[in-house]
Amino acid sequence: MKLTAEQEEQIEKAASLIKDGQVVGLPTETVYGLAGDISNPASLELIFKTKKRPFFDPLIVHVHSTEQLKELALTVPEIAEKLMKIFWPGPLTFILPKHPKLNNLITSGLETVGVRMPNHPIALELLKRLDHPVAAPSANMFGKTSPTQASHVQKEFGDDVFVIDGGECQVGVESTVIGFKKNKIVIYRPGAVTKEKLEEALKLLEETTYKVIEDESPVAPGHLKHHYMPEIPLVIVDDFEFVGLDKPALMKKLRISEWRPAELRLSDEPEIAARELYSQLRELSSSRANFIFVCYNPKHVSGLWSAIWNRIEKAATINLCQK
Ligand code: TXA
Ligand code: MG
Repeated sequence: MKLTAEQEEQIEKAASLIKDGQVVGLPTETVYGLAGDISNPASLELIFKTKKRPFFDPLIVHVHSTEQLKELALTVPEIAEKLMKIFWPGPLTFILPKHPKLNNLITSGLETVGVRMPNHPIALELLKRLDHPVAAPSANMFGKTSPTQASHVQKEFGDDVFVIDGGECQVGVESTVIGFKKNKIVIYRPGAVTKEKLEEALKLLEETTYKVIEDESPVAPGHLKHHYMPEIPLVIVDDFEFVGLDKPALMKKLRISEWRPAELRLSDEPEIAARELYSQLRELSSSRANFIFVCYNPKHVSGLWSAIWNRIEKAATINLCQK
């Protein structure tokens, strides 16, 4: 993708703001990030302050080359290097042993750091113009729905935060987060680089001793039960007709006095469903509805659906689904 003159200008402005210690809204292929200079403690603090994010939730660092890993990670396991060659730039975050000089604010005092190379021409170009990588969590208030359009970020933080408009995020859900434990590759957060894709890559690499496992037990306190929550409550149900549902009880739980539901309809295509998910949650939240419901679909089991339902389950106030 060739950048337009306007985008070039926006990148230049963002680069100078970041060098000045400010934070900026950054488009990536997954969701928009709130980016700040990792070498400037004031910028790192500003990220947490702007998002109202607790300091116990570590940040992901974004790089434009594997060369930049030298200032971030103490070592990079061979298997990680091989997977980076396949999946970077792309929606895969690696948890690596942290470099001793890396600011503890980034890692929340953990001995590890999360790193990824985003697959977005604007993000990569911006990173190339900076002297250091940026830390960038998703550009939303802590615990709320992530942004997939520049306007989402602007609405969230107002005019105080400059946002580069890179269009709609193509993936739509946050990166897959993986770590390494002996011969296990552990998925801590599912994303567009699915378990199946990782397994395929291992086969291709003839790395047959490695196993891919999913483990959401919190290695980082950031992996909380509730996250990505829309402005109005989201409820997961078994079917759209609310058959057999005790409406008054549900209304009480949701703390609503009127029955004004809106339905979250997911595309049958997982790539589209992921891309649209957060926009839909935002749109439905600003409709006249006072709660959103989504119907569990037993066919949505593997691949990208794992990431989509992981987000929906965490975004939900109540899960009434029996399955
Ligand atoms: O796609 C993405 O990853 C987006 C875009 C902007 O790149 N970023 C993103 O950042 O989703 P954030 O901060 O919203 O989510 C980062 C997740 C958190 O759940 C955090 O706990 C986890 O990564 N994380 C970061 N560093 C970690 C570490 N050292 N060990 C375990 N988990 C870590
Ligand atoms: Mg987030």
